[in-house]
Amino acid sequence: MDNKYLYIETYGCQMNVSDTEVIFSIMAKHGYQRTEDITKADIILANTCSIRDNAEQRIYGRLEVFAKEKKQRPGIIVGIVGCMAERLKEALLDSGKVDIVAGPDSYRSLPSLAEAVRPGQPQINVLLSHEETYADIIPVRTDKNGVSAFVSIMRGCNNVCSYCVVPYTRGAERSRDPHTIVREVCKLVADGYKEVTLLGQNVDSYFWKDESGNVDFADLLAMVADVNPSLRVRFSTSHPKDISDKLIETMASRANICRCIHLPVQSGSDRMLEKMRRRYTREWYLGRVAKIRKEMPDCAITTDIIAGFCSETEQDHKDTLSIMEEVGYDYAYMFQYSERPGTLAARNYPDDVAPQVKTRRLNEIIELQNRLGLESNKRDVGKTFTVLVEGPSKRSADELCGRASNNKMCVFPDKVHKAGDYVSVKVLSCTSATLICELV
Ligand code: SAH
Ligand code: SF4
Ligand code: F3S
Repeated sequence: MDNKYLYIETYGCQMNVSDTEVIFSIMAKHGYQRTEDITKADIILANTCSIRDNAEQRIYGRLEVFAKEKKQRPGIIVGIVGCMAERLKEALLDSGKVDIVAGPDSYRSLPSLAEAVRPGQPQINVLLSHEETYADIIPVRTDKNGVSAFVSIMRGCNNVCSYCVVPYTRGAERSRDPHTIVREVCKLVADGYKEVTLLGQNVDSYFWKDESGNVDFADLLAMVADVNPSLRVRFSTSHPKDISDKLIETMASRANICRCIHLPVQSGSDRMLEKMRRRYTREWYLGRVAKIRKEMPDCAITTDIIAGFCSETEQDHKDTLSIMEEVGYDYAYMFQYSERPGTLAARNYPDDVAPQVKTRRLNEIIELQNRLGLESNKRDVGKTFTVLVEGPSKRSADELCGRASNNKMCVFPDKVHKAGDYVSVKVLSCTSATLICELV
């Protein structure tokens, strides 16, 4: 078979990173080799995100670049896969710049779609599935250092938060057979990996049932953590309405489950939470935080926040600032609300917070988080952490970097260790983004 080269750009969340690895695996069976050089590619794919309008605008920009590449080498194929493919479907073909449109559940058909493409005959598959989890596919890892890998444990989302496009682009929630998950993790350990991150839109609603019984997320987390005590286990994303006492207690019972929970709050106002259809209240959320802190005082808590959702008032915004302060988030991803066509919010509520007000509120949120992040890092000065080395630091070749269990980035002078080693460090000082450490 001729060598054919596949180049993929990945946008959006970790789920897309994991899907790109699945695509490489599927395509490898059909003779496509991975390349990171676009000028060598026979197929160029963009694995896309629709979560906010600016994510999609970026892809239109990339399409121009791909079109230039195609002008020079007319035989090549350009494809849009992932969430934007699912959301826009045939409309993506209008530009004349796209040969393949494939949604998140149709990656097994990519080789045949590529085979069928002819000039003027683009191919499309955007069928969503209730079963597809790619459980049997061994991903081609694309991480840089062979230390840390993503493992997808479920797909889709059943929550229908009113602002969110994901349920439409990824379809119904379905969990992956736990035995295939454990098998994949065992193989990663055998290949030298030291850290896995279990991925799902709402990992707390993971559920599998078969002859041997029921497996919920806490059970799965224990199974994965017990594969090897020197394997670090992380997971994302938890939903505040579903994160259970059992899960928090399971984390606390195993030192190799990392002390960091991503628990997106979105807003601190009950009125906004109701309108967002998050199905928890501020009080409930703070109760979950209290439980986490009780079981694991050293556990980092990180979050996502949306500024300027429909009808948000100054008071609603202040409630968001005050819950941030109350929790003292270690890290946050912060966004302005971006209306997504077809969502409950787009159909029912006007996007009525003025753009400059959204921006101002977002800036206040970011400013507060910068302070909270710095305060959180200052609390760690003087502490000793075990760090999993990722490689040389960005600043200096004489320094290594890696993360502590709480997911904070640590840098320290070290010429001895290498990626994948565990080292003990003491925190000497910090910036808002990094803990400056020394080996102990
Ligand atoms: N499943 C996860 C996150 C999914 S998307 C969860 O439920 O938390 C990641 C983040 O993008 C969300 O947490 C939310 O903060 C943000 N987001 C989603 N839709 C958005 C929109 N329409 N506008 C702005 N931010 C959005
Ligand atoms: Fe979107 Fe809500 Fe599902 Fe997260 S839980 S993916 S925010 S619908
Ligand atoms: Fe984006 Fe799809 Fe992930 S919309 S955030 S790539 S699930």
